[in-house]
Formats: sequence, structure tokens, C-alpha cells
Amino acid sequence: MSEKRLVVPQPIDAILDREHDMENQILAELATGARMMAGDNPALPKMPARPTILDFFRFRFRTIAVNHMLQSARNASKAGHDEKVVLACLLHDVALGGLIRGDHGYWGAQMIAPYVDEEVAWAVKHHQALRFFADPAVNYEYPQAYVRFWGPDYVIPDYIKRDYEAARAHRWYGSARAITLYDLYSFEDDVHIDPEEFEDVVGRHFKQPEEGLGLDNSPAAHMWRTIIWPTNFL
Ligand SMILES: [Fe+2]
Ligand SMILES: [Fe+2]
Repeated sequence: MSEKRLVVPQPIDAILDREHDMENQILAELATGARMMAGDNPALPKMPARPTILDFFRFRFRTIAVNHMLQSARNASKAGHDEKVVLACLLHDVALGGLIRGDHGYWGAQMIAPYVDEEVAWAVKHHQALRFFADPAVNYEYPQAYVRFWGPDYVIPDYIKRDYEAARAHRWYGSARAITLYDLYSFEDDVHIDPEEFEDVVGRHFKQPEEGLGLDNSPAAHMWRTIIWPTNFL
């Protein structure tokens, strides 16, 4: 495979390019003998043949998300939370790691649902809404960062309010709230944690598919496959 491989932006990222100008320019290069990207992109680290969840931390997720999730998990563990909550913290931003930003809690929950306890996926889904609502009982305040991101007059979308209210009344509220507590303090640049630190927790609580995560046949496998081969044309 020596010919040039072409990569086009994902539709969601190219949505402002309504007339496909960018895509058409790239496709025009096919005339020069280039081909569309398929399979392993040589610009990315090679994944093991049967990737585990921690291999995605090692070889795919963006560094900022990796450091953030590992720090969250370590802080939850230090605070004495049970392993289910530690796992939820470890995985809470997997969608931001390498798939998509918008509604990352909802996407992340679906990505992990086939492989974790229902409570863990539920907590990951709801952490996104809970981030917007203070809980003085556990010293959780509305994040200053959110004031910077959207300004002081930001109106929280209705679906976020709805899902927050449902979560508030749910028996698993504490697990989702715990994620938000360790979310806040887990953005330090100078703390580097080896994913290895969570090998045991993952081994006990994440149902690693034998074929490799993404190469299995679960309802979420395609999402992981997309991260293994994120630049495939189709
Ligand atoms: Fe998040
Ligand atoms: Fe986070």
C-alpha cells in the first residue's frame, strides 16, 4: 500500500461545508492515483490485534482526556469510593477521548453499556447533566469553567434539566454525582498516571470481549471500531 491515502473530515465536522467543497477537493485527488483511507492509518499507533479498553487509553484517546480520566479515577479511589465508582470515573469521558464532543455523556454510556454494570453506564450518562447543577450537600458548585465556556447567562437546555431532575430522584444519584466531584479537580498537567494502575479494577468490572473491544459483536462494537480506524472513508 504505497499510494497516497486520502482522509476526509467526518460529516459532523464538515457540516458547515454544506456544498461538500472540501470533500470534493479531496476526492479530486483520486485522479492522481491516490486512494481513500481504509484500515490502519500509518499516522496512528498500531492497535493490538485484540484491543482492551486500556489499549484505547494507550493508543487512541487524546492525551488531555487520558490524563483527565486517569486522575479522576485515582482521586475517586483515594477518597475511598468502591470500584464501581472508580470505574465510572475512569470511563466517564471516553466519548471525548476519541469519538465526539456533543452529548459526550450519552454517547459514552452507550459505548460502555454492553461491558459494565448498568449503574456504571447510568452514572456516565448522567454526569453530563449533573455538571450543570450544584449540590451543596457534597460541596459541588457550578463549575467556573462553564461560566468561561458559555458566559454567565447561559440557559441550560431543557433535556439537560429533565435528565438532571430524573437523576436527582434516582437511587444511583450518588454514583453520577461522584463523577462530577472528581471531574473538577482532575485537569492537572503535571500528573502522569500509567493506565496499568487500573488494570485490576478493569479486570474485575469490565467485561473485556475475547475478540477485542470493537471486534466483538456487541451493540456498541462499531463505536470502538470507529476509534480503531477513525479515518476510514466508509
Ligand atoms: Fe464529562
Ligand atoms: Fe470529565
